Amino acid sequence: MLRQIGFIGLGTMGSGMAKNLVKAGYPLNVYNRSLEKAEGLGKIGAFVAKSPKEVSARSGAIITMLSDSSAVEDVILGDNGVLEGIRKGSVIVDCSTISPRVSVKIANEAEKKGVEMLDAPVAGSKRQAEEGTLIFLVGGKKQVYEDNMQILKAMGKSSFYIGQNGMGSYMKLVMNMINAINLQALAEALVFGMKAGINPDLMVEIINSTGARSGGSEAKGKSMIRGNYETAFALKLMCKDMNLVREETRNLDVPAPTASIVNELYTMAKVKGKADLDYSVIMEVMKEMAGIGQKQ
Ligand SMILES: NC(=O)c1ccc[n+]([C@@H]2O[C@H](COP(=O)([O-])OP(=O)(O)OC[C@H]3O[C@@H](n4cnc5c(N)ncnc54)[C@H](OP(=O)(O)O)[C@@H]3O)[C@@H](O)[C@H]2O)c1
Repeated sequence: MLRQIGFIGLGTMGSGMAKNLVKAGYPLNVYNRSLEKAEGLGKIGAFVAKSPKEVSARSGAIITMLSDSSAVEDVILGDNGVLEGIRKGSVIVDCSTISPRVSVKIANEAEKKGVEMLDAPVAGSKRQAEEGTLIFLVGGKKQVYEDNMQILKAMGKSSFYIGQNGMGSYMKLVMNMINAINLQALAEALVFGMKAGINPDLMVEIINSTGARSGGSEAKGKSMIRGNYETAFALKLMCKDMNLVREETRNLDVPAPTASIVNELYTMAKVKGKADLDYSVIMEVMKEMAGIGQKQ
C-alpha cells in the first residue's frame, strides 16, 4: 500500500499537483489556508485537514507549495505547523520557490525532530502542474531524494538532483533570473516592432521561427500582443523571485546588472496595480513608456 502523503498549499500550482497524487493512487491529506480551495480535492477523495499540524500527523511525506519564504516558515515552523504534528522518519518536500538560506534553516529545524527535508522547486507553470509534467530541481541528501523519487514522478516528467539543502532553490533562482530577463527583452522588442508598424502576429511568428525565440516568446508572445495577461505566474511572485536573486547575488558578491534593471521594471509594473496578473504584463509598462495605446 502507498504511504500517506500530505499536501499544503492548493493555489495555482498546488491544486494540479495534489490532483495528480490522487490520480496516482496516493492516500492524500490536504490543507489550504483559505479552506474553500481544498473542497475540490475533498470531492475526489482527499482528506481535508484543519491545520498543517493535522496534515503532518497523518502523513509520512509532506509536500508544501506556498507563496514565499515567510509562508513556508509559518506553515512548517509556526503554531499548529508541520513540525508540531510530524513523526520521526517523515520527510518534508518543499516545492515553493523560496530563499535558499531560509530553506537550509528549515531543514536544520526539521533535522532536530529526526525529519529530512528536500527543497524541490519546480520548472513549469500551471499547465505543467495540471498535466503532471513539471521538472523538479532538488536539494537535500541524495539518498532522501532517491527514496522519494516516486512521489515526484507522480507530479512531474523529470527531476534533477542539484546538491545539498538549498541547492534546488539556488537552481530555481538561476532559471527565473533568465526567465525574467528574457520576457523583459521580448516585451521591449515587441513594443519597438509594433511602434515601427510591423504586423504583431507576423512579428511573433517570425520570432518563434528563428534564433530570436525563447520559452517565453513561444508560451506568451501571442497573448502579449493581444494584451491578454491571464495569470499563469503572477507578477508579484516574479517580483519576489527577483528580490531573492538580488539578495543572493549580493550575498555571493556576484554583479547582476541586467537583473537589477529588470527587477526595477517589474517593481514598476507591480506598483501600477498589476501584481496579480501574469508577469508578461510587463508588456503594458513598456507600451506605456513608448506611448502606445495612448492619446497623443
Ligand atoms: N505559478 C507558476 O507558474 C509557478 C511556477 C513555478 C514555481 N512557482 C512557485 O510556486 C509557489 C506557489 O505558486 P502559485 O502560483 O501556486 O501561488 P498561489 O496561487 O499564489 O498560491 C500560494 C499558496 O500559498 C498559500 N499561502 C500563502 N501565504 C500563506 C501563509 N502565510 N500561510 C499558509 N498558506 C499560505 C496560499 O493560500 P491561500 O489560498 O489561503 O492564499 C496558496 O495556497 C511560489 O513559490 C511560486 O513562486 C509558481
